[in-house]
Amino acid sequence: MSKAGAFDLASGVGGKIDKTEVLSAVEKYEKYHVCYGGEEEERKANYTDMVNKYYDLVTSFYEFGWGESFHFAPRWKGESLQESIKRHEHFLALQLGLKSGQKVLDVGCGIGGPLREIARFSSTSVTGLNNNEYQITRGKELNRFAGVDKTCNFVKADFMKMPFPDNSFDAVYAIEATCHAPDAVIWEKDLAPDSPLPWYLPLDTSHFSLSSFRLTSVGRFVTRNMVKALEFVGLAPKGSQRVQDFLEKAAEGLVAGGRKEIFTPMYFFLARKPQHG
Ligand SMILES: C[S@@+](CC[C@H](N)C(=O)[O-])C[C@H]1O[C@@H](n2cnc3c(N)ncnc32)[C@H](O)[C@@H]1O
Repeated sequence: MSKAGAFDLASGVGGKIDKTEVLSAVEKYEKYHVCYGGEEEERKANYTDMVNKYYDLVTSFYEFGWGESFHFAPRWKGESLQESIKRHEHFLALQLGLKSGQKVLDVGCGIGGPLREIARFSSTSVTGLNNNEYQITRGKELNRFAGVDKTCNFVKADFMKMPFPDNSFDAVYAIEATCHAPDAVIWEKDLAPDSPLPWYLPLDTSHFSLSSFRLTSVGRFVTRNMVKALEFVGLAPKGSQRVQDFLEKAAEGLVAGGRKEIFTPMYFFLARKPQHG
């Protein structure tokens, strides 16, 4: 079942990290970054630890504020964030030309929001590849709840070391996951200019939306104080507020990068295997 309540947020902070070690995990995660003295080579060498710490710390915040799919989407006026996310997932399924019964791989699948939507939209079996154990545990629960646990599964592995033999899948997709690769990633098309509303709108605090209330400045103010109170009374682990702080800082950076058009999560490319015969 969806875990979008305040207590789910509090109890989920830290994921698989022991609750007494959340604060030290926050400190270690922060130290990877330049503003805390971190260096690029160290980040690259320790990308697995850095990315896993990040997703252990933030997953319950993502679920609370964003939903089961952890990506941005092109959006029309009058469309809610959730509607735009689903439409983007349908767009990807259509671009892949998925057909009923095919086997599909989702690279860096989060807790499986896109995987479940695409599997149901196209009647395919989707395998989610993820290196984060906590997200896989959540994904399995949600797959059972959605009734796709017989046809969809998860594999815990690093996408830099793919654990599958060639030609194991009919189609493969990745949504906002390969940005975590320590190596450069290529792109083909930026979908952002085609979107009537900017992709960063849900994070823009000058924008108000009732359907995404938790992402607005008032919503974030409420969440910040709620997390503070839950941490104070011991229901959320020590360090939870710090996670909220770095997420807000990241949101500000994303909006600023989007406004200046120096960053976009909407690059899209499609590759097709050569057809034989
Ligand atoms: C922003 S989330 C996107 C999740 C999902 N695609 C979605 O849209 O809901 C990035 C995901 O990539 C996964 N990830 C990052 N680096 C990875 C790696 N080297 N191997 C496997 N998964 C990885 C993270 O654990 C996380 O689930």
